[in-house]
Amino acid sequence: MMNIREEYIKYFENKGHRQIPSSPIVPENDPTVLFNTAGMQPLIPYLMGQKHPYGKRLCDYQKCVRLTDLEEIGDKTHHTFFEMLGNWSLGDYFKEESISYSFEFLTKVLNIPVEKLAVTVFKGDDKIPKDEVSAKTWMDLGIKREKIAYLGKEDNFWSAGDASPCGPDTEIFYFRSDEEVPSKFDPSDDRWVEIWNNVFMEYYIDEKGKVSELSQKNVDTGMGLERIVSVIENVDDNYQSSIWKDVIDLICEISSKPYEGNEKAMRIIADHIRTATFISADPAKIKPSNTDRGYILRRLIRRSIRYAKELGIDINSDYDKKVSSIIIDKYEKYYPELKDRDYIFNILKEEKQKFSKTLEKGLREFEKILKHSNDITGDIAFKLYDTYGFPIELTIEEAKRRNLKVDEKGFHERFKNHQEKSRTASKGMFKGGLLGHSEIETKYHTATHLLNAALKQVIGNESCQLGSNINTERLRFDFPCDHKLTDEEKIKVENLVNRWIEEDIPVIKKQMSKKEALLSGAECRFIEKYPDIVTVYYIGDFSKELCGGPHVKSTGKLGHFKIKKEQSSSSGVRRIKAILE
Ligand code: ALA
Repeated sequence: MMNIREEYIKYFENKGHRQIPSSPIVPENDPTVLFNTAGMQPLIPYLMGQKHPYGKRLCDYQKCVRLTDLEEIGDKTHHTFFEMLGNWSLGDYFKEESISYSFEFLTKVLNIPVEKLAVTVFKGDDKIPKDEVSAKTWMDLGIKREKIAYLGKEDNFWSAGDASPCGPDTEIFYFRSDEEVPSKFDPSDDRWVEIWNNVFMEYYIDEKGKVSELSQKNVDTGMGLERIVSVIENVDDNYQSSIWKDVIDLICEISSKPYEGNEKAMRIIADHIRTATFISADPAKIKPSNTDRGYILRRLIRRSIRYAKELGIDINSDYDKKVSSIIIDKYEKYYPELKDRDYIFNILKEEKQKFSKTLEKGLREFEKILKHSNDITGDIAFKLYDTYGFPIELTIEEAKRRNLKVDEKGFHERFKNHQEKSRTASKGMFKGGLLGHSEIETKYHTATHLLNAALKQVIGNESCQLGSNINTERLRFDFPCDHKLTDEEKIKVENLVNRWIEEDIPVIKKQMSKKEALLSGAECRFIEKYPDIVTVYYIGDFSKELCGGPHVKSTGKLGHFKIKKEQSSSSGVRRIKAILE
C-alpha cells in the first residue's frame, strides 16, 4: 500500500522543499493557545517575514488537535487528533507553482483522474479582487471551467483566527462516489469532499478585523492525512482505512463485538486513546487535571473509558494499554517522542483508577439522592455528571433499573448552559495573553534571550530559537546546529552569558508596530499571533527579540548560568538544558 505521508514529503523535497520536523501539539511557550490546530501555526513568525533557518520552501506533517466539538466524535470522519500534510512558500513561489504542484501530486503521484477533481476559488469582495490567477492556472492544467466554483469569504478565505496571516484560498475537492461524475461541480453536493486547501497568504488580519498587506506573499497548504488516505483507499469511513483498521479490529477482539452496530463507541475509544497518547507524550508533559489542557486530556481518557464500559470491556483489564500500544507501533517511526511507552501507559492507567473511584463515589451519591427523592431532576442529573463524572447514559441506566424517570430535557438544558460557559472560557484562553509567571521563570525568560544571543556569537548567526520551554527548575532551548557542541563551545557560551549577567545590562522593553519590529530585524521568540502593537526586548546591542515577556529589569539579577545538558533533539536540531544557580 502506498505510504502517502512519505510520498508527499518526497515529492515536495524533489521540488526544493525542506522537511521541517512536526512541532509539538502544545505550542511551545505560548500559553495563549491550547493546541496546534493547523500546520501553519508554528510558522506564523515566518509567514510574517522572519527568516526561516531551513529556507523559503518547507514541507512537513504536523500533529494537530482540534476540539471544537468533542461530543461529535463518533461519526465516520471526525477526529480530535489528526495530521496535516503541509507545504509552504515563504515569500518564494506563489499561486501558479503552488497549484501546479498540488495538481501534479494528486494526478501523477496519487493517480487521481482529473475528472474526479473540482476546485473552488475566491470570488472577490469590495477589498480583495476575484482570484482569476488561480482559476486560469487550474484551467491551463486541464480542470474544466464547469468544475470551478467561485465562492465568497466564508468559503474561500482562510485565517487561523483573529490576528493571523490570511488570504484567499483555493480548495480542491474529490468526487467520492461510484456514481457518474456530474459535469458541473456543485460544492453543496456532499459526494464532493474537500481534500486540500491552498491558502495564498498575502494579508494580515488584526484583532479588530482590519486587513493589511504582508511584506511577502506566502503559500500555506494543508491536506488532512486521514481524509486523503481514505479517499485513495476508497473507503467512506475513515476508521476503515489503513490508518485505523487494525485499531478497530483490536477493539473488536477485546470487546468480542463486531464493528457493525458498535461503530460509535469503537471510533470514540480509538480516537480518544490516540489523542490521549499523543498529548501525554508531548514534551509539554501534560497530565490529566481539572484545568485547560490537562482537563482536555482527562475528558478524553474518561470518555474513552465510558464507551469501553458501554461495549462491555472490563475496564480494569489493560485494554487501554493494548490500544495505545498498537497506536504507538504505527506512529513512533514518525514521532519518536512516543517511545517512552511506560510513561504514557501509566498516565492512562492512573487516570482510569481515579475515574473508577469517582464513579464509585457517584454511585454512592446516587443511592443517597434516591433516599430523598423519587425522580431524577435535571439538576440532580447534572450534578452527578459535573461533580462525579457520571455520564447521563449511566444515570438513565441506573434510574431505569429502579423504575425511575430522569428529566433528560432538564439535564440537557443545564448541560448546554455549562458548555457555553466553558466555550467562553476557552475562547478567553486564546485571547488571554501570558499566564502568571514566577520570579524564577521570569529570570529564565531573560536567560533564554541571553543564551540565544550567545549561541549566535559562538556557533554562527544562523543559530536561532526553534523551540523553548521554561519551568521553575530550568530552561530548555532548541536550535539548528549540525554538530554536537564541543566542550569549548559550551564553555564559551556559558562564559558569554555569565559575562553579560555580571555586566548587569538593562533589559529594555519597547512597544512598536508589528511591521516596524520585523523591519528592524527583531527576532520572534516564539509562536505568537501577533497583535498590531508588539513588544520588543533589547539587551545591550546583541539581543533584540519580539517577545511577550515577562523579563527582569537588568541581567545582574539572574545568578550564575550553567549548561546541564546538550543533546540532539531531532535531525539537525540540538537541545540545551540550562539552569540558573
Ligand atoms: N492552513 C490551512 C488550513 O488549515 C491550509 O486549512
